[in-house]
Amino acid sequence: MNNLLDDPARVFDYARLYPVSVACSLLYGHRAKDLDSFWFKDFYHMMENWGEVLEPGANPPSEEFPLLWYTPGHWKKRIYETKQLRSILWNKARDIVDKRREKGEKRDCLIDEKLDEMEKQGNWPFPNYAFNNLMGELVEAGADTTANQVLTLIMALAKYPWVQKKAQAEIDRVCGPNNPPTFDDFDKLPYINCIVKEGLRWRPTARSGLPHRVTKDDHYNGFLIPKGSTIFVAVWAMHQDENLYPDHMRFNPDRFLNHPKLANEYASSPDYDNRDHYGYGAGRRICPGLHLAERNMWRIVAKLLWAFNIYEPLDPKTGKTVPLDENAYNSCILVSPLPFEVRVVPRSEEVLQAVKREKAGALEFLSQYDG
Ligand code: HEM
Repeated sequence: MNNLLDDPARVFDYARLYPVSVACSLLYGHRAKDLDSFWFKDFYHMMENWGEVLEPGANPPSEEFPLLWYTPGHWKKRIYETKQLRSILWNKARDIVDKRREKGEKRDCLIDEKLDEMEKQGNWPFPNYAFNNLMGELVEAGADTTANQVLTLIMALAKYPWVQKKAQAEIDRVCGPNNPPTFDDFDKLPYINCIVKEGLRWRPTARSGLPHRVTKDDHYNGFLIPKGSTIFVAVWAMHQDENLYPDHMRFNPDRFLNHPKLANEYASSPDYDNRDHYGYGAGRRICPGLHLAERNMWRIVAKLLWAFNIYEPLDPKTGKTVPLDENAYNSCILVSPLPFEVRVVPRSEEVLQAVKREKAGALEFLSQYDG
């Protein structure tokens, strides 16, 4: 929030910095302190290549038709380069952790827990590169997805000011200008949850989910789905279905007023007709990171709306509003809005001072992940 105040034009970068920093702190015990940090810069450099390589249509469908692997062209070179870039990145991350541990500094994070476990057991269940890439894959799965959804929400809030006003009225009833919302306020601030859900419904970053493979013959509604079939959950199509979500083109969090719980509650409920959305996929391979993602996004939206009004940008020459294009998205496998700018204006002097005061406490807490 302080970054946004100091440099609002870089909202796009800061919306990406936060989720990667949270993921790297939890997984590696190191945070992405700023935009020059290895954990931010190198990660996004790799992710940009990764996104291009995995863009639908970027490669011949050689998994379905193996002969196509021999199709000439630049595409295979690009795949190998990205693979190498990825290994270099996650090997370097592992090096940072190993050097820290050599100095006797263990941190409260997943990789230290796993390395301790493996050292204790004296065996290594997979090759080093596979372990390194597996850890990195968790950052890939958790950071970009959350950042894309947060960017969608920031854009939607700027475009739909009535949503901001409604959420801010609720926040103001519960939290004063000196008391920023915390996750303990979840039940008292139901509209924030609706906003997060509507972002996942309106612009799901994984529009076609991830493909699932059927392990044995299955039957559904009289259809045989043979073993080995590839199944896509048609997330985008369902989310834009007028029968399921009336007036589906419109960003309207009100449609979730009767879904006050977090996404995992609906995904695991036997009442599957009462599902909120499919933004995290479906079935046994549903996103296991959704608990973290839901809390991250809730906290981001609640705090942003408590502190700021978010507006569409102004043309510096004419002073007129420059409307944001709510359809300007890339076509990667995980879709993200194209870069945009917004104006971020503190809601009051009191709030501004509270945001600045919070910074000192936050930096002290985060110092355990520095270095
Ligand atoms: C808003 C944020 C997120 C969204 C929209 C999202 C969405 C998804 C989707 C659609 C899938 C595919 C599910 C399926 O196959 O049906 C998935 C899988 C996965 N996600 Fe997430 N995710 C998010 C955040 C996270 C986070 C924070 C983590 C962990 C730190 C994470 C870890 C994973 C992993 C490991 C998988 C693969 C699961 C498997 O194949 O068994 N995700 N996610």
